[in-house]
Amino acid sequence: MLTMVVSLRFQLLFLFLFCIVCIGEERDIYLVLVEGDPPVAFLQDSLVSLQSRKKLDQNSEVLKAHAKHLEESHDQLLQTTLEEGAYNKLYTFNHIVNGFSVHTTPTQANKLKKAHGVKLVEKDRGAKMMTTYTPKFLGLSEGVWTTELGRVKNAGEGIVIGFVDTGINPFHPSFAYDDPRDRYAKNNRTRFPGVCEEGPHFPKSACNGKIVSARFFSAGAQARGVLNASIDILSPFDAVGHGSHVASTAAGNHGVPVVVNGFYYGRASGMAPRARIAVYKAIYPSVGTATDVLAAIDQATKDGVDILTLSIGPDEPPRNRLTVLSMFDIFMLFARKAGVFVAQAVGNRGPGPYTTVSYSPWAVGVASCNTDRAYPSSLVLGNGMKIGGIGLSGPSFGEGLLQYKLVLAKDAVLADGNILRTPEFVDECQHPEALDLVIMQRSVVICTFSAGFLNGSSNIKAIINTARTLGFMGFVFVANPTYGDFIAEPYPFSIPGIMIPKASDTQIILDYYEKQTERNDKGVAMAYHGRASIQEGRVATYNEKPPVVSRFSSRGPNFLDIKRNPTDLLKPDILAPGHQIWAAWSPMSVKDPILKGYNFGLVSGTSMATPHIAGVAALIKQRNPSWSPSMIASAMATTTTTHDNHGEPLMAEGPELYSLIRSTPFDHGAGLVNPSQAIDPGLVLMSGFEDYMSFLCSLPNTDPEIIKTAIGEACTHSFHAPSDLNIPSLTISALAGSQSVRRTFKNVAGKVETYVCAVVPPNGVAVELHPPWFTIGRDGIQDLEVKLNVTQVQDTFSYGEIVLTGSLKHIVRIPLSILPVSVL
Ligand SMILES: *[C@@H]1O[C@H](CO)[C@@H](O)[C@H](O)[C@H]1NC(C)=O
Ligand SMILES: *[C@@H]1O[C@H](CO)[C@@H](O)[C@H](O)[C@H]1NC(C)=O
Ligand SMILES: *[C@@H]1O[C@H](CO)[C@@H](O)[C@H](O)[C@H]1NC(C)=O
Ligand SMILES: *[C@@H]1O[C@H](CO)[C@@H](O)[C@H](O)[C@H]1NC(C)=O
Repeated sequence: MLTMVVSLRFQLLFLFLFCIVCIGEERDIYLVLVEGDPPVAFLQDSLVSLQSRKKLDQNSEVLKAHAKHLEESHDQLLQTTLEEGAYNKLYTFNHIVNGFSVHTTPTQANKLKKAHGVKLVEKDRGAKMMTTYTPKFLGLSEGVWTTELGRVKNAGEGIVIGFVDTGINPFHPSFAYDDPRDRYAKNNRTRFPGVCEEGPHFPKSACNGKIVSARFFSAGAQARGVLNASIDILSPFDAVGHGSHVASTAAGNHGVPVVVNGFYYGRASGMAPRARIAVYKAIYPSVGTATDVLAAIDQATKDGVDILTLSIGPDEPPRNRLTVLSMFDIFMLFARKAGVFVAQAVGNRGPGPYTTVSYSPWAVGVASCNTDRAYPSSLVLGNGMKIGGIGLSGPSFGEGLLQYKLVLAKDAVLADGNILRTPEFVDECQHPEALDLVIMQRSVVICTFSAGFLNGSSNIKAIINTARTLGFMGFVFVANPTYGDFIAEPYPFSIPGIMIPKASDTQIILDYYEKQTERNDKGVAMAYHGRASIQEGRVATYNEKPPVVSRFSSRGPNFLDIKRNPTDLLKPDILAPGHQIWAAWSPMSVKDPILKGYNFGLVSGTSMATPHIAGVAALIKQRNPSWSPSMIASAMATTTTTHDNHGEPLMAEGPELYSLIRSTPFDHGAGLVNPSQAIDPGLVLMSGFEDYMSFLCSLPNTDPEIIKTAIGEACTHSFHAPSDLNIPSLTISALAGSQSVRRTFKNVAGKVETYVCAVVPPNGVAVELHPPWFTIGRDGIQDLEVKLNVTQVQDTFSYGEIVLTGSLKHIVRIPLSILPVSVL
């Protein structure tokens, strides 16, 4: 009897706990791969060239039937495995992979993991944005456009670039299509199965022939339950600006005038101004999910885009998986297998090492650098001293020649101002009601960087608002010695203003101000004799020393897992301008209040570098339609520039603000893209899906079963080492003793050429090349053996390069990044 009672009590307790768990369990999004071939498997390597891909009838009955069958099998798997009502399927992925995504509880997800036929289950880690003058900077306007590709009128013609991003602002002049003399039929690429999804702010007419297709993916975002209908617009419309910026950088029309606050900044142009745009919106202002991004990649590949631009993605490495086998990387692999060139931002987590979020050899990871353009602005004090700063603003009234009373905001607080607001907010000029109108009016006011800017509760927009409300002649936003220097980006200010980001410059201004200000014995300012004016800040100068790798740009070495074990594969792959890029914006600008109302934004990020590479890839593809993605990537990588515009080695912004360090391949990859060389590289290195399999199967300490489950193919062949993958770089993270590596070149110059092989060896490594020279026939293939020996152990990576110099002036360069270690 007694035992009965006890067990009953246990049972009650158990039930009680169980219910707490089931009620309290939050749903999440899970990405699931299942066994069985996706439709793309039917096509296999016939897809590698665009030519054959175009012949493919996307809607063939067989493929359609197979896709439908897969979808049904996913539904059935869910029905038989999970509790009814406990899940919600978001997408079927049934083109490039066989899988789906589902919104459900961790308990249900665990059931799925164990279910028969399920290969992988991965939690959705979210996806983020990796927040023109550049064609001229890259030599397009004098070189490639004019001579090679039938002038700018045709640059990029016939190529479709897909953008997985925040959508597009379709009525922007960068995307207009209205040249009556040269009207190409809407969707001239008859094979491109464009779909134009209408919705708020996005009428059917938005797909005008320049924009050939526009879709949006929101099941994941909606499942998160945080969408705000006034900003998270359910149509391909871009409410952020980011997607429009990225699309116009790659494929925006040529020569679009950039006018902001009535000031003409020059003209902007995409890299491939005649390329077509296919929009796949997957990121919303309130949330971005990997599931929407993957659904977008699946669709873009199915549609047959030539190039995919991913200025978005997971912002951190996967927790329990190999970096190269995350769901995101698997999707990119299958997009590449289907013949799509994939450009991916390396991320904005620099300047520390091991910060790249691009890991795989099948996606081109793009790092960011500056251009030679800067927008200097200056403050002139009453004593004639001129102090440099940043801010896209006009001069203070009187063309900057008249001077105005200089006042420190802190000195003009109303008696009850500090009661209304914390002192920090007052110093930061965030609240006009705390400041004395009589003192502020017609003055140049000094506002100070403080805690609010660090925690995000203060912003420049509020300073401008305060300045307008109180009638400032201008504002000076200075660094705060307590916090040190800050990073200032040139935003367009609608009133005169300047940012002084260096604490040492701030000190000069404050010393002058103190000398000129009369204070009573309590220290209260009584009279202001200091004077200042703000000079024109909107006129560009071209004196910078580019390319300098941007501070924010994520860095290598590349790594295999969350423990940051290095991979023998170079990341980033390549460098492109991403610092202060002018391009199209969305006036709604819901994430950047300071850019609200503007049609153009001057913004920075590896997001901005990535579409430069996508656009150059379009130019190469236009000239060489049969080239595979790896040939295009190789053409860009072997022809880069690794010196700045003064002929000095590349530099990178380092950990200290405003400091420069010597740049290495882990900062700049192969170097700065050089389009006029890239369209005629002489030789290319090719690799395809089978090679990527061999690469994966040769990764150290990796169970072949894991690769088979992720990719769906067994490890039948593996390289001696991952560094054997035939790519235009050579990275060895632990060279012990000697190692021999091979690279294979294909002649694409259309002529016989003789190459001499030379090497700049890394410190501590002897390198021998065999053969030392070779003559390669038209379309010929040539192997080069690279023998490496450790001569002296080093404690950090050292760098060098292989240089092949052709008799027809082609130069093919391959960066070496080697860590020589002792044999133990
Ligand atoms: C389609 O574009 C090609 C150039 O790629 C052009 O020659 C042709 O006339 C265009 N067709 C139509 C119907 O506009
Ligand atoms: C939705 O966004 C609008 C515009 O930014 C904002 O005013 C509003 O407070 C937001 N609503 C919610 C519930 O967050
Ligand atoms: C940010 O800093 C300001 C100034 O110190 C403070 O008043 C405010 O409460 C802080 N806000 C947050 C969200 O921490
Ligand atoms: C590397 O070492 C091997 C064996 O020790 C030797 O035969 C070869 O000549 C060396 N190569 C170089 C480039 O030093």
